[in-house]
Amino acid sequence: MNRKEESPALKALVGVLIFLVFAGFYFYLAPYVSDGVGDGSGQTKGQTDSAGGMNTAGPEVSPAAPEGQTQPPATDKSSEYLILVNKTHGLRKTYEPKDLRKVRSAAKDRDAEYQKLRKAAAKAFNDLAAGAKAAGYTIKLTTGYRPYSYQKTLYKQYIDMDGKDKAEQYSAKPGYSEHQTGLSADVSSPSVGYRLVRKYGRTKAGKWLAENGHYYGFIIRYPKGKEEITGYEYEPWHIRYVGKEAAAEIYERQLTLEEYLGES
Ligand code: DAL
Ligand code: ZN
Repeated sequence: MNRKEESPALKALVGVLIFLVFAGFYFYLAPYVSDGVGDGSGQTKGQTDSAGGMNTAGPEVSPAAPEGQTQPPATDKSSEYLILVNKTHGLRKTYEPKDLRKVRSAAKDRDAEYQKLRKAAAKAFNDLAAGAKAAGYTIKLTTGYRPYSYQKTLYKQYIDMDGKDKAEQYSAKPGYSEHQTGLSADVSSPSVGYRLVRKYGRTKAGKWLAENGHYYGFIIRYPKGKEEITGYEYEPWHIRYVGKEAAAEIYERQLTLEEYLGES
């Protein structure tokens, strides 16, 4: 009834409550607040990237070396962008990537239906075409993703034209074409009329592509002198997205994807 008499008890109660709130914050909340903008979120992102695999940043960042280990662990070669498709590694007839996107720089006289790439590869290709433009070259995609059915049509056409032995030096059987992954693109330039010809490798645009593609995550998939390993003739126009880290190593060490993956 007397406010002055109640005051000390009330003050003590308020004091205890304030103490409990701060103590609770310190013991339970503070660790999350500090980690939330530092290691905690980084770790979560890294885990999501490597497990989910849909983020291009994931596979391209080497995990940090564990404490006490001086050498970083070997590059993660399980990235979805390092899928190997060649004469001995095929894909299901029904395999079709779910994230196909149109690219900005595509040759107009081809079927737009087959000028898509997987999202990460499409973005990388857009950047590559812009980089080429800045260097003074026009590089356009002629064909990207090809479904099984279209590869079947092409393969048959080439066999009718050149016979099986010769056709198989440059054309994959349906189900064994890298184009079905949505990570490969045939590209060309005005200097060769956007044709897919060996001499493209001797043009300025073709040379720029061979020397700069890795900065964008692409490799020349069927290089000259590696026919025995890749199973195909030299194709200076066929590029394959593998991500920047793998592309840099493949370029520097002059490897094929088979050699990089230890599959040759
Ligand atoms: N030209 C390549 C090998 C393909 O047909 O997929
Ligand atoms: Zn190709």
